[in-house]
Amino acid sequence: DGVITIDPGYKNTGSCVSAITFLDGEKGILRYRGYSIEELAEKADFLEVAYLLIFGELPTTEVLEKFTQDICAQSIVDEDVRKIVDAFPKSAHPMGVISSLTSALTAFNPSSVNVDSEEDMYNAIVKILGKFPVLVAWTMRKKQGLPLDYGDCNLGYVDNTFKMMFKQPNKDYVKNPIVISALNKLLILHADHEQNCSTSTVRIAGSSHAGLFASLSAGISALWGPLHGGANQAVLEMLEAIRLDGGDTKKYMAKAKDKNDPFRLMGFGHRVYKNFDPRAKIIKKAADEVLSDLGIDDPILNIAKALEQEALNDPYFVDRKLYPNVDFYSGIIYRAMGIPVEMFTVMFAMGRLPGWIAQWREMRLGKEPIGRPRQIYVGETLRPFTPITER
Ligand code: CMC
Repeated sequence: DGVITIDPGYKNTGSCVSAITFLDGEKGILRYRGYSIEELAEKADFLEVAYLLIFGELPTTEVLEKFTQDICAQSIVDEDVRKIVDAFPKSAHPMGVISSLTSALTAFNPSSVNVDSEEDMYNAIVKILGKFPVLVAWTMRKKQGLPLDYGDCNLGYVDNTFKMMFKQPNKDYVKNPIVISALNKLLILHADHEQNCSTSTVRIAGSSHAGLFASLSAGISALWGPLHGGANQAVLEMLEAIRLDGGDTKKYMAKAKDKNDPFRLMGFGHRVYKNFDPRAKIIKKAADEVLSDLGIDDPILNIAKALEQEALNDPYFVDRKLYPNVDFYSGIIYRAMGIPVEMFTVMFAMGRLPGWIAQWREMRLGKEPIGRPRQIYVGETLRPFTPITER
């Protein structure tokens, strides 16, 4: 009827119907395709969850084997990609590098651009799932001056990714089952979260029929920001800053509540969860377990726990329903695994990849129209052009 309503941040606007992820923010429920996040994090394997999210059902042994082999067959990248990785300065933030590399893959895989049939989609999907861990590993290794190697995809998706990241020249790679199982859990917990900022970006970019890799690259850029996926890096930097500042958590609580101070308690609050973030519950427990299993005593874990306790009992946080989110404890686990802080959001991107793909596929198969919000214009009315000499 021509009436436009404005909803800043789309707080109350639905953009699509979706059968992928169910989220009840009041009750703290998260389910992928009907399966609870608690059960999946405990029992499933990341690639199984990826298949579930993308294709709607848990795979049988045969289907998972084929999916795994198809991904494995794609787990090399064009040799020229090394030159692109090499051209980045070591100081480049890994999120900028990985979003560029993801977009660049389009140039090396032109058949992945115009994908209309389910078969074309499947081929593009296994390509990106195969190549992305290589890009993750190379992005990290480039910063550390390590050779850009391949792993062994028969090891399993998560294990192989970790091997590609950490394998040292002239040293055998020894799997640490505690680390691999924790990483598997973290990736599953991040795998989808319905219409969040990066996922909406992927869907809207893809709605113009831009290719899958280009749409994913847009999603990675959206994830980078500290209000979204970048929060995991920001949390760790905040905890570290508090530690270096003498561990005075009360001082930082006061800053977070001060409306004249732009500081926010990173890892707290969520657009949708107004009770608790079920992922944070699982991650907090996992952080305790991983640190104790690895025999690590990290002082910032105690700072995190103190901040959480103070916030849970503080009227400012209670009234605004601000609880620890998925990013609050994940960085502590990544750090225990030896992953550099600037790589944290890249790990988030790797976890979210199946969700972005699933949402993109659903949008394309559902033949959704191009995303194109409207606006209410509040600028100047018509005025005559003034030549530059008269301004
Ligand atoms: N510290 C202090 N105050 C906060 C915080 C925080 N972390 N989060 C929200 N508030 C206050 C905010 O100032 C506002 O107060 P008031 O009503 O007095 O103006 C009120 O709570 C509501 O906040 P909002 O910014 O309107 O809420 P939003 O839904 O637009 O934003 C959020 C949600 C996640 C961006 C925000 O809570 C935030 O910035 N949190 C810190 C960053 C973070 O941890 N992000 C990760 C989110 S979960 C994983 C992911 O998405 O990737």
